Amino acid sequence: MITIPNESFESMLVTHPVLLLSSRQGRYNTLSPLVWYMPVSGDPPMLALSLKPSSMSYHYIRESGDFILAVPDDKLLKAIHFCGVHSGRDVDKISHLNLTTARGRAVSPLVVTNCLANIECRVRDIYSSGNRPLITGEVLSIIVNPNFYDREWLPQARLVYYLGGNRYRVGNETVDMSDVRPGYVPPESI
Ligand SMILES: Cc1cc2nc3c(=O)[nH]c(=O)nc-3n(C[C@H](O)[C@H](O)[C@H](O)COP(=O)(O)O)c2cc1C
Repeated sequence: MITIPNESFESMLVTHPVLLLSSRQGRYNTLSPLVWYMPVSGDPPMLALSLKPSSMSYHYIRESGDFILAVPDDKLLKAIHFCGVHSGRDVDKISHLNLTTARGRAVSPLVVTNCLANIECRVRDIYSSGNRPLITGEVLSIIVNPNFYDREWLPQARLVYYLGGNRYRVGNETVDMSDVRPGYVPPESI
C-alpha cells in the first residue's frame, strides 16, 4: 500500500455512469455531465447531487426547483465531453449538438431523447457542503428505452464512465476526448 493525495477520492469513487443533467430557466436550457451524484432515499425515491455554484446548471435548478438526469450511452461521448468543457452561459449546447429533446412529463427541463433513460426530479432541499452545494431531489417520473433496460441495464447498454481529465471508459476501452475543446464543431448528427 502507498499513500496518495486526499483529492484522489474523486477519481477513486466515481465508478457509476456519467449522466447528463438537464436544467432550464424560462426559455434557456443547459446540459452538464454529472458524476457527483448518489441515491439517498428509497421511499420517497430521492437522490443527491453536488454542483459547482458557478455553473448555469446550479443557477437554473435553484431558480426552477427541478431537473432531469438523462442516461447517455457511448454514442453521446463527444456530446458529454463538449457539455463538460462549455457553459450554458456561452453556448446553447442542445442546439449546437443537434440533440433531440421533448417536454418533460412532470418538470420544466427538456428530456434528451437521444439518451437511454430520463429521470425527472423535483428539488427537495439544497444544503451547504464544502465548496459545492448539495441538492436533493425527489424522483417524479422515469422514462426508459426498453431495448436497453429491463429491471437492470442490459449488456447492450454501453454506458460511459469517467476517469478524470479528458478520459472515459466504455466497456474495456479507454477513450481520450482531448480533441473536444472550445470551438469543436460536431458532425451533422451525434
Ligand atoms: C465527465 C464530467 C463530469 C462532470 N461532473 C460534474 C459534477 O458532478 N458536478 C459539477 O458541478 N460539475 C461537473 N462537471 C463540470 C461541469 O460539466 C462544467 O462545469 C460545465 O461547464 C457546467 O455547465 P453549465 O455552466 O452549463 O452548467 C463535470 C464535467 C465532466 C467533463
